[in-house]
Amino acid sequence: MDLSTNEFEAAKQLQFINKLKAQFEMDYEKTGVRKTYHIETFGCQMNARDSEKISGILKQIGYEETDSEEADFIIFNTCTVRENANNKVYGRLGNLGKLKKNKPDMIIALCGCMMQEPTVVEKIKQSYSFVDIIFGTHNIFKLAELLNTRLESDRLVIDLWKDTDMIVENLPSDRKYPFKAGVNIMFGCNNFCSYCIVPYVRGRERSRNPEDIIAEITELAKDGVVEIMLLGQNVNSYGKNLPNPITFAQLLTEIEQINGIERIRFMTSHPKDLSDELIEVMSKSEKICDHLHLPLQSGSSRLLKIMNRQYTKEGYLDLVERIRAKMPHISLTTDIIVGFPGETEEDFEETLDVVRKVKFDSAFTFIYSRRTGTPAASMENQIEESVAKERFDRLLKEVQANQKMAVTKEEKTVQKVLVEEINRQDTSLVTGRLSNNILVHFKGDSSLIGKIVDVYLDENKGFYYIGTLVK
Ligand code: SAH
Ligand code: SF4
Ligand code: F3S
Repeated sequence: MDLSTNEFEAAKQLQFINKLKAQFEMDYEKTGVRKTYHIETFGCQMNARDSEKISGILKQIGYEETDSEEADFIIFNTCTVRENANNKVYGRLGNLGKLKKNKPDMIIALCGCMMQEPTVVEKIKQSYSFVDIIFGTHNIFKLAELLNTRLESDRLVIDLWKDTDMIVENLPSDRKYPFKAGVNIMFGCNNFCSYCIVPYVRGRERSRNPEDIIAEITELAKDGVVEIMLLGQNVNSYGKNLPNPITFAQLLTEIEQINGIERIRFMTSHPKDLSDELIEVMSKSEKICDHLHLPLQSGSSRLLKIMNRQYTKEGYLDLVERIRAKMPHISLTTDIIVGFPGETEEDFEETLDVVRKVKFDSAFTFIYSRRTGTPAASMENQIEESVAKERFDRLLKEVQANQKMAVTKEEKTVQKVLVEEINRQDTSLVTGRLSNNILVHFKGDSSLIGKIVDVYLDENKGFYYIGTLVK
C-alpha cells in the first residue's frame, strides 16, 4: 500500500468525522445536551493506545466521555489472549443487554482482538443481538464511517479485516495523560509462539516509518509529554522490513535527541532479537529507563522449542548476564506461563531455576490458556488444571520473594520520580514512578503532577516506597 492511499483514507475519514460533527452540533442546538460515550478497554497497552484513537475520533465528532455505562455510545475494546479475558467481556455484555432494554437508543460497539475471531462474532450475532457495530483491530480508523452507516441504516454493521498492510497516520487521538504517552512503533507479530493468538488477531508485523514516529513524539513533547512508551509486540525486530531498514537501537538513538522527552520506555522485548547494539545504546542513554521487560515464558529449553520461542534456557541466562554486565542497576521483569501442554515437573523446575537465578524484579505469571487455532491448542498432552494451579502457586511464591527484595535496592537514596497522580487512598500524598517503574508515595500536591522531581526513598513497603520530596 503506498502512502497516498493512506493519506486518501485519512482524508476520507475526516469527511465522515466532519459530517457527524455538523449533525451532532445541530442536535445539540436543539436539545442542549451533548451525547456521551463510554469506552471499556480490556487487555494490553496496544489496546489502551487504540482506545485513545477511538476516543479521539468520538470527541472530534462531539461526544463527551463519561464513566457511566448508561452512555449513548458504549464501546468494548476487547482482548482474547487468555480465556478469562473473553469471559470478562461476555459477562459485561450480559449487563449491557439489560441496560439497553431501558435505553433502546443506546449504540453498542465491540472491537479489538476478540472480534478478529470468527467464532466469537458468530456467538455475538446469535446470543447478543443487541450489539450495533462490530469492527476489528485493523480498521479502527474507520470508526466515524461505521458509526455513520449505523445511524443511517439501523442495522448491525460488521466490518472485519483479516489483515492489512495499511498504517493510517494523522487521525485524531485523545491522550489519557498529559505528561506521558504510548506511541506505536509497529503493529502485528510474526513470531507465532505456539500458544499465542496475537499474530492471528493482530496480523503480520508492520513497522511505522521512523519519520512518522519522530514527528509524533516531537509533537507530544511540544504538548508537554515527558515520558513515552514505545509499543510493539516485539520492538527488537522494529524496522527490519522497512524499505530503508533501521534497527530499534538506531530508532532509540534518534528519539533520544528530541527535546523535552525525559524518559523513554518500551515494550515488549523478545529475547531472541535483543541485540548487543541495543544493550550498548541503553547503557549509554540518559533517557532510556532502567527497566527491561523480557518475557521468559518457560525455563525449559525443551518446552521453549515447542513454544517456538527461538532461544534456550542457557541463551536467556547468558543474555541476562550481558545486560547486567553493562547495566547493573537495571530492573528486569518478565512473563511466565505454567501448564503449557506436556510440561513435566522437570520442565517446571527449570523455570523455577531461572527465576531463582535471575531474581526478576517482578513477573506476570499465567496459567496456560488453550486458544483455538493456535498449534498448542491441538497438542494432545494438555495439563490438568489442578497440576497447573499447584505449579502456579509455587511459582508465585518464588516470584514474590524476589519482588520484595527488589524494592530494597534504592532504599535511603535520592531518585528521580515522575509524579503521576494524587494518591487514591491518602490525598495528602502523590504517587509517582522511578525510572525502573517502581511506585513511590510521598507528601505533595497536584502542582507536582507531570513533573520529574528528586525524592528521598525513606522506606520500602514491600512492593513500593514511601519517600520525601527533596526541595
Ligand atoms: N509480545 C509479547 C507478549 C504479548 S501477550 C511477548 O512476546 O512477550 C502477553 C503475555 O501473555 C505473554 O508474554 C504470555 O506470557 C501470555 N500469554 C500469551 N498467550 C497465552 C496463553 N495462551 N496462555 C497463557 N498466557 C499467554
Ligand atoms: Fe505472542 Fe509470541 Fe508474538 Fe509475543 S512474540 S505476541 S507471545 S506470538
Ligand atoms: Fe489482548 Fe490483543 Fe493485547 S489479545 S493482550 S489486547 S494484542
